Amino acid sequence: METPVRPTRQRPGPALLFGAALLTAGPAAIHLAVAPMHFQEWVPFGLLFVAAGALQLAAATAMLFRPSRRLFLAAGAGTLGIVAVYLVSRTTGVPVGPNPWRPEMVGFPDIACTAMELVSLPLFAVAAFRRSRERRRHPVRVVLAAAPATLLAVALTYVGTGTAGAGMPVAYDVAPMVPGRASTSVDLLTAPPGDEPVRSFTLTAEVARIGGVDAWTFDGTVPGPELRVVQGDRLRVTLVNHLPASTTIHWHGVPGLPNAEDGVAGITQQAVPPGRSMTYEFVADAPGTYWYHSHQDTSDQITRGLFGALVVEPRSGPTEDRDDTVLLHDAPNGGVAVNGTSDLRLAARPGETVRLRVVNAVAPGMDGTPEAPVLLGAPYRVVALDGRDLNQPQQLGPQRIAIGMGQRADLVFTMPASGAVRLVDTESQSHSSGVQGAIAALAGAARLPAVTIGDGPLPAAAHPDALPAFDPLHYGAPASDPVAAARADASYPIVLTEQPGFHSGSIQLVHEINGAASPNVPPIVVREGQVVRLHIVNETAEYHPMHLHGHTMSVLSRDGQPDAGSPVRLDTVLIGPHETWDVAFLADNPGLWMFHCHVLLHASFGLTMSIDYTGISTPYSMGTRSGNMPE
Ligand code: C2O
Ligand code: CU
Repeated sequence: METPVRPTRQRPGPALLFGAALLTAGPAAIHLAVAPMHFQEWVPFGLLFVAAGALQLAAATAMLFRPSRRLFLAAGAGTLGIVAVYLVSRTTGVPVGPNPWRPEMVGFPDIACTAMELVSLPLFAVAAFRRSRERRRHPVRVVLAAAPATLLAVALTYVGTGTAGAGMPVAYDVAPMVPGRASTSVDLLTAPPGDEPVRSFTLTAEVARIGGVDAWTFDGTVPGPELRVVQGDRLRVTLVNHLPASTTIHWHGVPGLPNAEDGVAGITQQAVPPGRSMTYEFVADAPGTYWYHSHQDTSDQITRGLFGALVVEPRSGPTEDRDDTVLLHDAPNGGVAVNGTSDLRLAARPGETVRLRVVNAVAPGMDGTPEAPVLLGAPYRVVALDGRDLNQPQQLGPQRIAIGMGQRADLVFTMPASGAVRLVDTESQSHSSGVQGAIAALAGAARLPAVTIGDGPLPAAAHPDALPAFDPLHYGAPASDPVAAARADASYPIVLTEQPGFHSGSIQLVHEINGAASPNVPPIVVREGQVVRLHIVNETAEYHPMHLHGHTMSVLSRDGQPDAGSPVRLDTVLIGPHETWDVAFLADNPGLWMFHCHVLLHASFGLTMSIDYTGISTPYSMGTRSGNMPE
């Protein structure tokens, strides 16, 4: 036992010292964790963060073993300095570095760090100026007194270092040019010149007031204008950016799209900055229903309104009397809309044939649930999925046709002798107002997204739960599909999982492919001419509409059961909860192509990878330095 001696200078209590030390060590750890990223930005910044971290570590150690008033005064001054620099960097920006006077974004690591520093300041003051009266407190009381600061420091350090360690990349290039190794830049993968008829369009990305909110639009409307061309046309689309942010246009589902025109920020192009423009050019060889949307900061820009339909009519002319696009999307002011309205009316006379091109651009919630339109009032055929025709589609009665985000379905029917035909989106209804709403809408109370075709009495209702679900794998007649029939040259598992964790500098429900989240999912590398098979296993309870850019996937099987109907060829495969799908594609379009979930939340939480052809490189990169954020 030590004999208690009354020291001439009393030390602060052990609880206070311990708390102050931890709240200094925490910021030290975060500063060291973010240092590598800052080294990539600018070496002096990296050095500054290492210096701050090292000094704070030394101070924390001294607080435990050699506390003194001078130490706490110095720690207080240093911490005040760090907080001041932080505030400047997030408000006006610091005057030095690669981007002088440009404020940085506020993130998890810096909030956690600053919070600890702010709490530590009063502790330093107490330690420096107040004398401890209780010199021999009971150990339990010491532990209790130290608990709040300890918990705070441990929790914030965990979050701060975790988010810093899985931060937004500064610069990430999916396929960099390697000196000394020949490669073709994506920039060169453009449409070869030809004498096709040119169809020129200009799409101006601009803010427009719609339904009381500022929407981001193409040409002032949501959806943007429908681009309708004829098979064989050469599209020349100029994107003019009048938005306050950079943007791009991706041509979703167009077979054979040249890679340079794919519109993926950071892979196939630099996002078009405000005030600038860019022209996309490609030949629309394959008739079908497609759509276009921004592929910069996609999860944000699609939901704000940057999308529209793209229809390529067959060269032989329209096959139906009426041909209408039905684009389901989020209304800028909430809810689901069809072509910008909640109650779309389309003209058609009795006996006329009608094609409805249904496009699902609705961004679902975390469950990824597809929309499920039901056609009432006439027998119909599903003649195409994702713009690709089905073989011998038979007539159907009312069924729920699940269309995942990004997918399309073409329905064809003949108008009855009397009365209207309706397309009712049952899934949106059960989302927006429950089963009751669904029943109300099916019964004809039209306050939920619905399309009425023709005039006269509305068709009889049906309860959505009583309706069968359309199954594309048991529909139409089998036919040969050379890609499905071919022996695969390569085969890859794609296992989809999710769990909470750190990603993109924040805490997310991280979505992984084979155990890694973007941008750390290793690409699949293919060679031109290969038939590549993907074995997609969904280990989550969510839907994942998996979209492959620039290619067509033939469905082989679902849960081991081979496709029993028409060949199904898609650019977006809807993988239901716990389902396993096998698909194959022919690698016939060299480039660097994204393969990702079209549930925008899932994609931004990590469910994104690329399929890269050998010998192709990109001069572009994603990350905070270029500002390219394709997800
Ligand atoms: Cu419709 Cu990569 O997107
Ligand atoms: Cu998903």
